[in-house]
Amino acid sequence: MQKILVTGGAGFIGSHVVRLLVNKYPQYHIYNLDKLTYAGNLENLRDVEHAPNYTFLKGDIVDTNFINQLFSQHQFDAVIHLAAESHVDRSIVSPMDFIYTNIIGTVNLLNAAKTTWLGNMAGKLFYHVSTDEVYGSLGDEGFFYETTAYDPRSPYSSSKASSDHLVSAYHHTYGLPIVMTNCSNNYGSYQFPEKLIPLAINNIKNKKAVPIYGDGKYTRDWLWVEDHAAAIDLVFHTGKVGQTYNIGGHNEWKNIDLINLLCSIMDKKLNRREGESAELITYVKDRAGHDRRYAIDATKIKNELNWQPSIQFEEGLERTVDWYLANDEWLQHVTSGQYQQYYDQQYGVK
Ligand code: NAD
Ligand code: TYD
Repeated sequence: MQKILVTGGAGFIGSHVVRLLVNKYPQYHIYNLDKLTYAGNLENLRDVEHAPNYTFLKGDIVDTNFINQLFSQHQFDAVIHLAAESHVDRSIVSPMDFIYTNIIGTVNLLNAAKTTWLGNMAGKLFYHVSTDEVYGSLGDEGFFYETTAYDPRSPYSSSKASSDHLVSAYHHTYGLPIVMTNCSNNYGSYQFPEKLIPLAINNIKNKKAVPIYGDGKYTRDWLWVEDHAAAIDLVFHTGKVGQTYNIGGHNEWKNIDLINLLCSIMDKKLNRREGESAELITYVKDRAGHDRRYAIDATKIKNELNWQPSIQFEEGLERTVDWYLANDEWLQHVTSGQYQQYYDQQYGVK
């Protein structure tokens, strides 16, 4: 039985990846290593927590001794590394958390994998999950390609860029079998409501102001999280060792247009007057160093591995709204405690 370590499996994307692997591959044992920071939530994995091929391990990837012991105990065959501090606004307030987890944590995993696999790298794989934000910010035209030079501009994207370079360095220097993907903005179920879409859904539902940074014309390329998880499964099994693949939805939206669409979906779902939710839109102070536009060219993964997104954005957004409205208990649990303190700090409102 293959032993696969997934890091950050209690987070948004990680929980979708764990669920997919546990259900699809009974011949694998999936170990989910997560520190359970504010973003890690085991309620995301309730449906698989008793599966015989699943084990949860609580721990910090920054803790070198713990990571070394874990690898020596379990002798993992592969790593799918998603654990990270992931929110740009938090990285502006507390950059060191990002440096420790995203850089030091990644190097700890690389070292442990290198030591464990030394002398027998065949069939082993270190899969590093990264972001399109490492490429920097685009103007009105153009796309990010796998060959685009890195130009990260926030503490978050810089820490992810550092980790990408280190993963690449361990491949070139030590022959560690790696593969890497850089994906655009994800949306869907189980996303912590500090990111734009779930934050807006929660606020619209509660008739609270929906904060739009700056002029609202910042552009993101949105991908359904289950399409990202499917791409990770595909790259894990068929990606070429040493390669990077960009993953994206060819689905660019200016923030204000996206929020207007969301408001109109929610007016219908909540039986509100057309235009009622849009009245909650409130322009607020811009994010420092806000990247203007991200857009992925996903031709390589489409041509080489035959991957493409499975659903249209409008359908995915409606499914996402349905999920948040049907999972009020989940939302209540994550919007209590620490999240509320952070929310007040960020927006200065209750
Ligand atoms: P998330 O913040 O929802 O989850 C991160 C998980 O990592 C949490 O469960 C958290 O508890 C865990 N974690 C954090 N620090 C840890 C540590 N020191 N040790 C062990 N576990 C720790 O993040 P996400 O949105 O699911 O993103 C997952 C990965 O995908 C990240 O590497 C991120 O950079 C990348 N990514 C995210 C997006 C997106 O739109 N969300 C897009 C592209 C790439
Ligand atoms: P976010 O979901 O934080 O993802 P990222 O910054 O990693 O792309 O933000 C998506 C976009 O929405 C980004 O341009 C910032 C903007 N935004 C707002 O306008 N208001 C908000 O309250 C948040 C959280 C984000």
